[in-house]
Amino acid sequence: MRKFIGWKATGMGILFFVLLQTLSFSQTDKSPFADIDNNRVLPMLKSLPRTYGGMNIPAADGRFLHDLIIENKYQRGLEIGTSNGYSGLWLGLAFQETGGKLITLEIERKRAEEAQGNFIKAGLDQVIDARICDAFKEIPEIEGEFDFVFIDAWKPDYMEFLQLVRHRVKPGGLITAHNVLNAGREMQDFLDALKTDQGLETKIVRNSNAGLSISIIKK
Ligand SMILES: C[S@@+](CC[C@H](N)C(=O)[O-])C[C@H]1O[C@@H](n2cnc3c(N)ncnc32)[C@H](O)[C@@H]1O
Repeated sequence: MRKFIGWKATGMGILFFVLLQTLSFSQTDKSPFADIDNNRVLPMLKSLPRTYGGMNIPAADGRFLHDLIIENKYQRGLEIGTSNGYSGLWLGLAFQETGGKLITLEIERKRAEEAQGNFIKAGLDQVIDARICDAFKEIPEIEGEFDFVFIDAWKPDYMEFLQLVRHRVKPGGLITAHNVLNAGREMQDFLDALKTDQGLETKIVRNSNAGLSISIIKK
């Protein structure tokens, strides 16, 4: 699956065409767990209890984001909305492979502590900095730039989060967001902003019913 996802060496249009190819390929591809050989993380990716009303991303979406990070060798990620850490396991596993780091933010203490426990159990706690905080307050306090952002908090907040991170992501980096299809009506302002922002090129990926937006910061 991975060889279809890399895009740094290609032009923007081609890379999005390639990405679209990836989408249809991913949907018919083998298991999202194929070739994941980390025996500590794999059982958790397969069967982490879906606590908190099934808010976790589907495995297919996790695999897609994981592969994007690895193919593009991203080094510094930010996740907004950790919950119990399921998506963080996918992202953290990818950053472990690239030698990068992930900061993930969760406002609810119980969920965040559960996630921290899961990251320790997975052996990813040195890669993932899991913070218990309000992302609106925390993001302005974090220094430096990111090359990968994943927004998966409450849907009407996406626009405000976009504004907070928009100029914190390097050219060639990505701003990604979850539930853009099944909760699109709750984030219309965000979807409109992705369309009209001349500095972004965005595609909507349907690996699952939820839908992911993938926006690359133009160079
Ligand atoms: C859909 S869940 C995240 C699921 C997780 N990404 C996964 O796939 O495993 C959304 C989470 O965002 C958290 N959240 C909402 N607003 C937040 C904020 N302002 N700061 C930090 N976390 C927030 C919620 O408490 C909730 O746990």
